Amino acid sequence: MKSQIYDQAKYYEIAFSFIDAKKQGDLFEEFIKKYSKRKVKTVLDLGCGTALQLREMAKRGYGAIGLDASAKMLDYLRRELLADGAKIETVKADMNKFSLKQKVDFVYIMMGSISYTKNNKLFLSHLNSVAEYLNSGGLYLIENLTINWADPKFWKPQIWTMRRGKIKVRTTYQPIPKDLLSQTVTQTIKLKVDDNGKRMEFIDKDELKIIAPEELKLLVEKNGKFEFIGFFERYKARPLRKISSDNIALLRRI
Ligand SMILES: C[S@@+](CC[C@H](N)C(=O)[O-])C[C@H]1O[C@@H](n2cnc3c(N)ncnc32)[C@H](O)[C@@H]1O
Repeated sequence: MKSQIYDQAKYYEIAFSFIDAKKQGDLFEEFIKKYSKRKVKTVLDLGCGTALQLREMAKRGYGAIGLDASAKMLDYLRRELLADGAKIETVKADMNKFSLKQKVDFVYIMMGSISYTKNNKLFLSHLNSVAEYLNSGGLYLIENLTINWADPKFWKPQIWTMRRGKIKVRTTYQPIPKDLLSQTVTQTIKLKVDDNGKRMEFIDKDELKIIAPEELKLLVEKNGKFEFIGFFERYKARPLRKISSDNIALLRRI
């Protein structure tokens, strides 16, 4: 997988280090407690990247598998694991069609990475792979990013700066509508890095498929291997009262 941003795993991790892995671990456990029909021993993180959440789950005693298409992301993750002692099995694979050595009890995909399924055919293939390795009664949690196409605020660039020691990373994120009918956007991520005075810039442009909530429900129904539990708030295991661009879709393996 070619990507300037994901090849820079350390700078990527710094850029997104606002993630609170402990809170996300608590949220996963809340969902499991409320909705899982099986005891969770092993969890699978799809598009795991540097896997902050999975490292937290491994520390809590779960068996942990991280799957990503980027060798650079997984190399970085393995180096970090040596330093912090957590145990995670890494798998380099395409999340749209993968195989694992074992079945798992809980699967999640974070930060809108589900849009890397790119189109509905691949999303259905992705669901088949998840279904093959998720034990019956186990949950699949999708942190989905949907877009209100009519609201101009979605198309404005978001810019933020994060620091770690003497490294500063300024991120610019902007989706631009590409094709309204197929709901594709061109996503641009730019990292401007100052690493101890050395300045660098990395840019990625990728075409992603936004999955609207009703569409996601219909595709899950068509796949037929999951029960659709509902849409939830992004930071609480609380059902959404109205459609929101930030949401969690929760499925349970039949
Ligand atoms: C937005 S990042 C999310 C990383 C991490 N889950 C997090 O929450 O910080 C998306 C990740 O998905 C991976 N990815 C993109 N397309 C993929 C595919 N088809 N199969 C597996 N991983 C993929 C990228 O390499 C990257 O690590």
